[in-house]
Amino acid sequence: MSITYHAARKQFTLAGRNFSYIFHVTDEAYLNHLYYGAKLSDGADLTYRYQKCTENDYAGQIDGTPAKYTSLMPEYSQSNYGDFRAAAILIEDGDGAPVIDLRYSGHEILPQKPRIASGIPVARGGETLAVTLTDAYLNVDVVLYYTVYEDCGILTRRAEIRNRGRKPIRLKRALSVSLDFPDADFELLTLVGNHACERQVRKTPLTVGFVGVGNSRGMSSHHHSPFAALMRPDCREESGEIYGCSLMYSGSHLEQAEVDHGNRTRLLCGIQPQNFTWVLEPGEAFETPEAVLCYSSCGMGAMSRSYHDFFRQYVLPPRFVGQPRPIVFNSWEGMHFGFSQESLMHAIEGMRGSGIELFVLDDGWFGRRNSATAGLGDWTVNTQKLPGGLRAVADCCRENGMRFGLWIEPEMVNPDSNLYRAHPDWIIRAPGRAPVLSRNQCVLDLTRREVLDFIKSEMYRVISESGASYIKWDANRHLTENWSAGLSPERQGEVQHRYILAVYELAEYLTSSFPDILFEGCSGGGGRFDGAMLHYFPQIWVSDDTDAHERTGIQYGTGMCFPLCAQSCHVSGVPNIRNGRVIPLRTRAAIASLGIYGYEFDCNALPPEERAQIPADIAAYRRIEDLVLNGDLYRMKNTAESNEFSVALVSKDRSRAYAVYYQALNPHKNAPQVRINGLDDHRLYRIEELNLVLYGDVLRSVGIQLPRMHQDFDVCTLHIEAVSDAAEKREEMPEP
Ligand code: GLA
Repeated sequence: MSITYHAARKQFTLAGRNFSYIFHVTDEAYLNHLYYGAKLSDGADLTYRYQKCTENDYAGQIDGTPAKYTSLMPEYSQSNYGDFRAAAILIEDGDGAPVIDLRYSGHEILPQKPRIASGIPVARGGETLAVTLTDAYLNVDVVLYYTVYEDCGILTRRAEIRNRGRKPIRLKRALSVSLDFPDADFELLTLVGNHACERQVRKTPLTVGFVGVGNSRGMSSHHHSPFAALMRPDCREESGEIYGCSLMYSGSHLEQAEVDHGNRTRLLCGIQPQNFTWVLEPGEAFETPEAVLCYSSCGMGAMSRSYHDFFRQYVLPPRFVGQPRPIVFNSWEGMHFGFSQESLMHAIEGMRGSGIELFVLDDGWFGRRNSATAGLGDWTVNTQKLPGGLRAVADCCRENGMRFGLWIEPEMVNPDSNLYRAHPDWIIRAPGRAPVLSRNQCVLDLTRREVLDFIKSEMYRVISESGASYIKWDANRHLTENWSAGLSPERQGEVQHRYILAVYELAEYLTSSFPDILFEGCSGGGGRFDGAMLHYFPQIWVSDDTDAHERTGIQYGTGMCFPLCAQSCHVSGVPNIRNGRVIPLRTRAAIASLGIYGYEFDCNALPPEERAQIPADIAAYRRIEDLVLNGDLYRMKNTAESNEFSVALVSKDRSRAYAVYYQALNPHKNAPQVRINGLDDHRLYRIEELNLVLYGDVLRSVGIQLPRMHQDFDVCTLHIEAVSDAAEKREEMPEP
């Protein structure tokens, strides 16, 4: 049993493979957190941890905090009733009073996770605890849902706010998680960045006050990933305590740690309160997104592996999990908008027999889309560029042994488009103000039923007529004015959340209408890479930065939370279009092999020897692909902290591994040394490239010396296999 309730103590215990999460109901009926951390003995009574403070205990101290809040660690923190820290919920009643006082009123242990009415994606799951807190004056319930994923050490949480009263209430903040810790001995790990520089790992020590990330962009964004982890200062890759929190949400979000005057920490996570209000009419409910909590006592690596298992098993569309994906060749970096039917066919024919299985026609195939300034929204083929239509391109793919894939950007419109000219009022804009443009485009107001229905039917038509078996869904700008002509003035704070719910409705409609089509998510690169998107898209384009060196940092950060089988990575041409860097093909291929592998480059500029190498590189990828799809990731070095990057992908039964070692600048001294984590200590393994046989513990603790590297940005890949014969055998090292 992963969820138990001890009635005499009024204590709830949630237990996963490696953690316990415990809270109880106090005498005053508050739901009070007691513990989250390493797994405790069954039946452990932690109610002693709660020492109720009375006014007498508090006599003489006049810092102004009501006594009970000096001892409470509320499971769902509330506002304006004595707790001065940032709260999970902020509500205004019909009188405008901002007070909420939530007390326990009941609970249920449900055999299955309940369905979500708003359509917001949550992880598939079983047994779920639902605890109801009630504000008796407002007649408002807050139901807290907890689902334990015992096998991967994960606990998910979300809240549902129900107005049972007679008057509307206004939600001004409705977060998914509030999690208190009695100390502040933490750093906050966050994933921050920018376009073409997504998810850089940042660690910030906590101090009194706030540390966190969040944005108001209406997308999970390149800038701040909806993820944060509280880690002990001694936490390392494979040791130490860490608490991860990943929000399954693609809109504006907040992840914030607060340390109070008493040196206690509160982690809050959920929908960004800036720009958010929600009017809840009598009888209505508001569902927050789900947050995925992960505790590890064995470092960041173990946390990441738990998340990877969880997303693979419970979030990604099951029909794609563990399945090899097509090796794609994408037209974007090589051709941008400047292609013709002839040049596309030339590229496709040029890749015949290379092992590439699917050609993706990226942006530029529709309307007057000859640059980013026009045509977005006009989803009819540009017959000047493609006189034979998409059919001709798809046929050419088929004749050359490839399938066909297509790029769409359904949520957006250029003002210079027929769609905009016909419906200038269909965009998100504020009355009386010129719309703010970004990449020359506006965001369609999908919160309006007529706009959403139009886009649904347009996209259905485009996809069904295209002959595509792969769709790349892009979204290249963020939300600004946050006003909708379809909502009353008091509901304008709902625009961003309603927008993302509409995106989910569209994604659900299209992915379920075309279940055999592989949808790849994208948002100006990796600007909407989050757990909710992974519910629809089994893979997401990691970044518009395809330079292999930069990709080591971006893929390192992305892998903190998301599995490699969700990370789309392409080998691109050199000099890199973004930074001009020239990196050897073997390095570009090795770094791209740590994800869903593909290509995008200018065929005309491709050196013949690189073209000739593609079949071998694809075959090499196919050899380790099952480790990308299903294996465990072990990180040994990363370019965020050093000149080197090295990881190992290890099969679940530990019989095989694939390791990649990369060195940025060649220091011209000793040959690189590398340790390999994740293997069985007492098993012998053969390292094919070095002709070495060593025990797993030797590989982990002593390590191996690699052949000397002779240039910058070089790489060494290792294929490691357990040998059945148990005798340790060490052969000569090759000469460096
Ligand atoms: C975004 C994507 C690119 C490409 C372009 C097309 O930037 O990330 O891969 O599809 O849009 O405009």
